[in-house]
Amino acid sequence: MPRASWIDHHPWIVDRTGDVPLYRQVYQQLRDAIANGAISPGDRLPSTRRLAETVGVARAVIVTAFELLLAENVIAGKVGSGTYVADDLPHDLTRRRRRPSKSDVKFDVPPHLRDGFLEHATAHDDRPFATGRTLLDPRSAKVWRRLTQRAVRDIGPIHLGYADPRGAADLRSAICTYLRTARGVRAEPDQVIVTTGAQQAVDLAIRVLMRPGDEAWVEDPGYPLTTRALQAAHVRLKPIAVDAYGIDVAEGIRRAAKARAAFVTPSHQFPTGVVMSLSRRLELLAWARERKSWIIEDDYVSEYRYSGKPLSSLQGLDDAGRVIYVGTLNKALFPGLRMGYLVAPPELVAAMVGTRYLTDRQPASLTQAMVTAFISEGHFATHLRRTRAAYAEQRDTLADTLKAHANDLLDVRVPDQGLHLVAYLKRHRSDIRLEPIARQSGIIVRAMSRLYLAGTPRQALMLGFSGFPPESLRPAAKKLAALLHSL
Ligand SMILES: Cc1ncc(COP(=O)(O)O)c(C=O)c1O
Repeated sequence: MPRASWIDHHPWIVDRTGDVPLYRQVYQQLRDAIANGAISPGDRLPSTRRLAETVGVARAVIVTAFELLLAENVIAGKVGSGTYVADDLPHDLTRRRRRPSKSDVKFDVPPHLRDGFLEHATAHDDRPFATGRTLLDPRSAKVWRRLTQRAVRDIGPIHLGYADPRGAADLRSAICTYLRTARGVRAEPDQVIVTTGAQQAVDLAIRVLMRPGDEAWVEDPGYPLTTRALQAAHVRLKPIAVDAYGIDVAEGIRRAAKARAAFVTPSHQFPTGVVMSLSRRLELLAWARERKSWIIEDDYVSEYRYSGKPLSSLQGLDDAGRVIYVGTLNKALFPGLRMGYLVAPPELVAAMVGTRYLTDRQPASLTQAMVTAFISEGHFATHLRRTRAAYAEQRDTLADTLKAHANDLLDVRVPDQGLHLVAYLKRHRSDIRLEPIARQSGIIVRAMSRLYLAGTPRQALMLGFSGFPPESLRPAAKKLAALLHSL
């Protein structure tokens, strides 16, 4: 394909006052463009007349430059069809185009950025029981399509400039109303900052609150991407054990009373699924109030509570302004949406806004328009009702099938909330060893023992049920049971 655009966009600066002849300057610029790949082998060059006009020199200058390139076999003339970059470029030219090899570039990648992000993120495994998947039923998908079309059709001045880094006022107001009623969050729209998800919200909180060397409590086992983000900020991790009531606050106080923050998932501890008890919540809040520490409440899956008494958010119990509440729409809708939010205590809002502005300016205006319409026209509530019922059925199908076929091998915990369940291994010693074996049989299991930082790892499989209808969960669960029996 001709790269006329390069010829047209290149600045073509020629110096008429120096010693270097004009043809030599044009020759060099063309040769460099071919050497660095801006013009590729086989690309057609414009006529000498046109190029002379573009560069602003006499045609003879271009003719001489072309002759030099022809003599070096960098370009070739084809009678009647113009001049092309040679298909087989001379060796000295292509040598310069070689991509730098790993040994040319020395960069010491820090350990927390080393392992497998790309592999993990692009695995795209949509087989049961992959975690982090959701379903969009046909009716919600239809509404979503309609609202997308409407948002695109209505594209106008609002999208053509920069806007409030916190997100659109009507969206923040809709989120606020939802959080007040559904989660008991105490907030005004001014405190809401729309992000690309819980991950960005946690990262913003870290950037604003944590300094290198500060200590932070993290749940053990816990969510690995929060841990990594803290490591990236050179925070000293204080892994605190999780028991049947949530993070062990007394242990946290014993080990690191002065920690600057605690990162917790109270409504559905990741990965165990434990709900933090009310007394633990009060203990945690008391510690933060006393020590002037911060609590980052990652309420990533609050929408999916199926049974049991709901506990409202930690933020709603906080009367000292120490909680940063984090939520996401990437679970309630779908992870590709990339939209979440945080609710900051009033005195942190300015710093959060500034930090968001410096890292990502503002949320995407088109997505905000779609989501605002989805929530304010009542589709979100309907979608949640439907998916909650569907996911509850999926959870039960998975749990019942596993209990029926592998009760002797698995201790299946049926969570009241969330999008995955945890099945503790009764006999097999290594959950990590099971991962590749199951994958070969077409089943995705996630080893929970990987997620321990300091505590003795428990061997368990995390099984996602939200992304799969009962008709695919049932045979997959039977297959997993048969596999475990066969080992
Ligand atoms: C505990 C926890 N926090 C945060 C996230 C990230 O959510 P988001 O996709 O909104 O960034 C996840 C995703 O799986 C999660 O499990």
